[in-house]
Amino acid sequence: MAQPDLFEQSGAGLPDWLLRSKDLRDELNRHAHAYYVLDAPSIPDAEYDRLFRELESLEAAHPELITADSPTQRVGGTPLPQFSQVRHDVPMLSINNGFSDEDIIAFDRRVSEGLKTDVAVDYACELKFDGLAINLRYVNGILTEAATRGDGATGEDVTQNIRTVRSIPLRLHSAHPPALLDVRGEVLMYKADFAKLNLRQREAGQKEFANPRNAAAGSLRQLDSRITAQRNLRFFAYGVGLLEGAAMPQSHTALLNWYAELGIAVCAERANLKGAAGLLQFYAEIGQRRAALPYEIDGVVYKVDSVEQQQKLGFVSRAPRFALAHKFPAEEAITVVQDIVVQVGRTGALTPVARLAPVSVGGVTVTNATLHNEDEVRRKDIRIGDSVIVRRAGDVIPEVVANIPERRPADAREFVMPRQCPVCGSTTVQSEDEAVARCAGGWLQCAAQRKGGLLHFVSRRAMDIEGLGEQLVEQLVDRHVVSTPADFYKLGLTSLAELDRMADKSARNVLDALEKSKQTTLARFIYALGIRHVGESTAKELARHFGSLDALLTASEEQILEVDDVGPVVAQSMLRFFAEPLNRELIEQLRAAGVVWMETEPGYKPQALAGKTFVLTGTLPNLKREEAAERIEAAGGKVAGSVSKKTSYVVAGEEAGSKLVKAQELGLVILDEAGLLNLLEQHA
Ligand code: IVH
Repeated sequence: MAQPDLFEQSGAGLPDWLLRSKDLRDELNRHAHAYYVLDAPSIPDAEYDRLFRELESLEAAHPELITADSPTQRVGGTPLPQFSQVRHDVPMLSINNGFSDEDIIAFDRRVSEGLKTDVAVDYACELKFDGLAINLRYVNGILTEAATRGDGATGEDVTQNIRTVRSIPLRLHSAHPPALLDVRGEVLMYKADFAKLNLRQREAGQKEFANPRNAAAGSLRQLDSRITAQRNLRFFAYGVGLLEGAAMPQSHTALLNWYAELGIAVCAERANLKGAAGLLQFYAEIGQRRAALPYEIDGVVYKVDSVEQQQKLGFVSRAPRFALAHKFPAEEAITVVQDIVVQVGRTGALTPVARLAPVSVGGVTVTNATLHNEDEVRRKDIRIGDSVIVRRAGDVIPEVVANIPERRPADAREFVMPRQCPVCGSTTVQSEDEAVARCAGGWLQCAAQRKGGLLHFVSRRAMDIEGLGEQLVEQLVDRHVVSTPADFYKLGLTSLAELDRMADKSARNVLDALEKSKQTTLARFIYALGIRHVGESTAKELARHFGSLDALLTASEEQILEVDDVGPVVAQSMLRFFAEPLNRELIEQLRAAGVVWMETEPGYKPQALAGKTFVLTGTLPNLKREEAAERIEAAGGKVAGSVSKKTSYVVAGEEAGSKLVKAQELGLVILDEAGLLNLLEQHA
């Protein structure tokens, strides 16, 4: 490393390459901050690479230029023989856990009592990241050392590896940085990066990681930092250790805001709320959004915001009294595979499904878990009788993660994939580029595909026919009353009332729902057809691009490829679907039954609310959330999941939580349902 005072000399007479290297370093660090911390790229990647290579070649010619904060130092250096130990000047503590509402109410009560206050306490609420804790030491603004938590008193020196994490600045953004600052936070891996890493590991025949946290830990504890550099680790700051040469911010919120100014990544999913009620609201709201977050969390963390109050409360043994982690119920559990059966989906895909001894996972009893395909069963070596780890994350289908080899009984049986469709007996086919085998029977032969397709047609995001659930569709298919979606619209009171568990009243409700579903949108109609690879957002794009069904039906491959986000796979699949006479006939029958939608000019983009971003929070008195979203989108607006400065309107209903608080803090326009309807009307 070069002496940092190379630049402290007077500016006169310095060689060009010296000045240029400093400019390049500053510029590259600025762009990296915009990209990795702010999520707002400031230049194209290629331009970044060009500047990077220029700096690299300057440094190669003049090695004395290489400073600790040079972006070139992120790529990873020579392998270490081992990690050396680092003693933490301020111990890295743990945090107490709470699980139930009562635990949270008791925590808030203890805090209020400790502070001898009757007014609701101010809390900083944040996420409990599922990664690993790290301490970053900045001396005069330069990252000099990074250490894992270890046992809290002593950790491992992982400085070289931490330098490769691009959301960690090598130099703080400040002309007057503190003499010493220990930043504490979490290193983690995004879910998408984890999936890519495991794919690479699999293809290279190497061990896969069980979850993103293990992958992050494994990547950080690499002796060769060039490997860490390829893993795309991330960082969020949430605490402070030693601080010298600057005043300690007076609240946790002020600390994190200061970090953001210094260029240190802090998570945007934060809220300041009061009292136990505020905490529980935050927990509920984050719980809903959890699955959509790009990284894994295992709960939320509440911290008394005021540092003065924190100090008053102090610590019990190894955890602070002023903070609590509110954990989500565990998403993984262990149970026994009692059988492996094969299910056939609406596209004919054959999926092995493990039948499990009932087990509670994340508060829900699970009895089935997907094994995805035959390859997965082999790769994970799951046999009937095995004890396995099952995982259920958010809304996704429960899956078998791994077996526990030590617990395999002597009579465990291997699974055999049938070569015939278990439902219709047709042969199965598996194309080379696919992991799944499919039933070749199609709609006409295979009742499973028919049921699946019909259930898709009636589902909420497609034709949204309430009351036509799985059991009803099953009966209708088995009794040969319904075999194509058009048959639904031929149903009468008598044919419905004959079915099991179907009273006159519920039969009437189904008929009403069918009638109501005829008024639809082109996007829903396209999606409802169940064309392979045409999901909801593709259907929306197709509807917008073509404007009418006839334009879509007559479109050539080139014309279909002009649609945003549509590639050759989707285009081929659509052409194949529309070339099939039975499908054309189905479309005509549905139109004849009275299914209608508004048609527009090709490429028509509603302008009224174009460029406006809405966030919906809480329950509206009349409109369902999707309805409100659909109407906003129909007027050209966009609906986003989280509130930011860029949000144009926040639509708040009953029990709106931290999003509303944030909107108020940012001074955004807040509408109720009536306000939204008004706005839509004005622009209609
Ligand atoms: S604060 C004095 N905040 O949870 C309190 N910890 O036992 C120190 N963690 O290993 C921790 N997200 O790695 C804090 N927002 C957050 C956190 C968080 C995750 C982890 C941390 C530590 C454990 C606490």
